[in-house]
Amino acid sequence: MNADTCYLDLLVRVLTNEIYQDPPAGPHYLVGRKYDQRVREAGKDWPSVAHTMVGSRCLNQVRAAVEHLLGSGVPGDLVETGVWRGGVCILMRALLKVYREPSRRVWVADSFRGMPESNAAGDSELALHEFNDILAVSQEQVEENFRRYGLLDEQVVFLNGWFADTLPSAPIDRIALLRMDADLRSSTTDILNSLYDKVSPGGIIVVDDYSLPMCSEAVREFRDCNGITDPIQSIDDDAVWWCKGGTAPHVGLRVAAAGGSPWQ
Ligand SMILES: C[S@@+](CC[C@H](N)C(=O)[O-])C[C@H]1O[C@@H](n2cnc3c(N)ncnc32)[C@H](O)[C@@H]1O
Repeated sequence: MNADTCYLDLLVRVLTNEIYQDPPAGPHYLVGRKYDQRVREAGKDWPSVAHTMVGSRCLNQVRAAVEHLLGSGVPGDLVETGVWRGGVCILMRALLKVYREPSRRVWVADSFRGMPESNAAGDSELALHEFNDILAVSQEQVEENFRRYGLLDEQVVFLNGWFADTLPSAPIDRIALLRMDADLRSSTTDILNSLYDKVSPGGIIVVDDYSLPMCSEAVREFRDCNGITDPIQSIDDDAVWWCKGGTAPHVGLRVAAAGGSPWQ
């Protein structure tokens, strides 16, 4: 195993805080419980300290996706919509560094003040904005998180504001990887309407919250309206991905046996 692989393996463990194993801060049914490795791997808690609530399985899928996209020369930047403390974007920036990509950028798009209050079907019942004491993380804090990993530079670009305001005019040229992690029907629709056309042929779209009915309905509605038939593939119980107009055989999961490296 070379040093780059060791760095990326360790980075995933640090971003999820599998090292110090902080207890969950939410959702409510997990508050007061201890750290649970299987829950954290699956991304099913909101960590009190870790820099991402995305589990290591999905982080390793980001890694596989970026490696595939760079290796096969699919043009474009890496975009995360819904970043919270920034962990997935930090991993994206690290991947560009490891693979010596000097010009692709990582776009970090969030309100940086939590979830909007949405009246869309399903969104209003979930009322995620009521958890903004946990879900709102400022841009300054996310920048500071990047800085602590030595990864804040001009290849990281922040889009601060509601997606409906920032994404339609975002100066993004082409996208190789579009990750959506904003839970809500309204937010998912805003992202797809604004950014899907910019995804390069062969680019990869990830929907982190596909297990939430309002999120999967928004995705299905967009795909149906736009005649998108690229097969949807599972990452874990919650998240899915597809490849725009093509196949990406190397993007399947490489999941480790418990405790091992996902790259064995
Ligand atoms: C589940 S968290 C994202 C988790 C993150 N990807 C991680 O690595 O832990 C959802 C994020 O989406 C953002 N968000 C949701 N809807 C939004 C919208 N319409 N505009 C801007 N940000 C939004 C919230 O502020 C929050 O940071």
